[in-house]
Amino acid sequence: MEAKKLWGGRFEASLEEWVEEFGASIRFDQKLAKYDIQGSLAHVQMLGATGVISLEEAQSIQAGLEELLNDYEAGKLVFDIQNEDIHMNIESLLTEKIGSVAGKLHTARSRNDQVATDMHLYLKDTLFQVVDKLTNLRQTLVNLAQEHIETVMPGYTHLQHAQPISFAQHMLAYYNMFSRDSERFAFNIQHTDISPLGAAALAGTTFPIDRQLTSDLMGFSHPYTNSLDAVSDRDFILEFLSNASILMMHMSRLCEEIINWCSHEYKFVTLSDTFSTGSSIMPQKKNPDMAELIRGKTGRVYGNLVGMLTVMKSLPLTYNKDLQEDKEGMFDSAETILVSIDILAGMLQSMTVHKERMAQSTEKDFSNATELADYLASKGLPFRQAHEIVGKLVLECSKAGYYLQDVPLERYQEISSIIGPDIYTALESQTAVSRRNSLGGTGFESIRWQIQQAKEQLSASKGL
Ligand code: ARG
Repeated sequence: MEAKKLWGGRFEASLEEWVEEFGASIRFDQKLAKYDIQGSLAHVQMLGATGVISLEEAQSIQAGLEELLNDYEAGKLVFDIQNEDIHMNIESLLTEKIGSVAGKLHTARSRNDQVATDMHLYLKDTLFQVVDKLTNLRQTLVNLAQEHIETVMPGYTHLQHAQPISFAQHMLAYYNMFSRDSERFAFNIQHTDISPLGAAALAGTTFPIDRQLTSDLMGFSHPYTNSLDAVSDRDFILEFLSNASILMMHMSRLCEEIINWCSHEYKFVTLSDTFSTGSSIMPQKKNPDMAELIRGKTGRVYGNLVGMLTVMKSLPLTYNKDLQEDKEGMFDSAETILVSIDILAGMLQSMTVHKERMAQSTEKDFSNATELADYLASKGLPFRQAHEIVGKLVLECSKAGYYLQDVPLERYQEISSIIGPDIYTALESQTAVSRRNSLGGTGFESIRWQIQQAKEQLSASKGL
């Protein structure tokens, strides 16, 4: 005879095993065990404090839950698929421990507000970890920038050499992207820091419960003010999945660049052995697998967002079993971003930057063409005209196979008498970069200022 379901009262026949398996969530929602017990602890304390159950009953349930928490932490809890989900598994384990008084725990509560509570607790915890890890990644980028203020590399548009920039400027661009990501996750905390507990199945309860108390006990900032909203929305999860997607997009772009930079054609960086792998056939290979994996995992994180948006799009209020599909995608995105942030930070911290090679690659190209045009414009020539002149000269040089810095002074003076011998310094990439000190520019002064700003922001984030 199989065990009776906790909801079995109105049923005559039981589910066949394979149907039961289809409906059960314990395989994946056991990740919520700790939060489920935490929520129950708050609920039972409140039931005792408000006199909904006696203090002795509350104490015995509380002691039982605390034991379960210890058992869970010791890896000793065994879940049973017949109990469907984490909520009923915990209740049934509690009954085994303390007997029928366990049945009083579910007074003035439903699995609908319970599961929503667990999800809020899980995600809030995760969001703090994400922000923390992002602070480390942002600090890593600022450290790299600090070391490489004067490291010159090609700046690209259309993946073509455009203008030389500082490697620090490139790192600081990502610093800013990850800072905004971090702000998005921090804002997400506000929408997750709300307690659904006590909304009950959907309409609240007739028992004199104290939702403020359970909210306080669980460390939430306040309870949801509408019971239907509390049990039926998952926007806090969608916000997370969307923030996670944007973060992965940023990480994937940086990884793509790292992958390019360690190819034979660029040789701008070398990844440490600890973040690279070899080939089973080609003995010389050192592959940037970890960067590729972050780029690849971006796909599943996007998928989790689109999956959940689709689950939610036509759901009538309030709880529908469809909502059980909110879990795997959220866990998967959470676990994926937490480890990806660490991998990326570790990869950046241990990578070698080949300054000379980066600088060299700005020497035999036309990325100083804007310098020449700016030089002419700063001496009074309208920029459009300067652009035309330089364009023609670039064409002449590329036909002849040399670069702007190889053009003899006589030829320059034929083109325009305003060009003097100082043109050659102006054409050097180091000069070109150092001079771009407009706000946010790649000039060394501008970068020093950006680093200062970043450091102030970082110390504020660390104080959070
Ligand atoms: N396992 C369910 C879920 O994850 C818990 C809530 C079940 N509620 C219900 N009325 N069937 O959504």
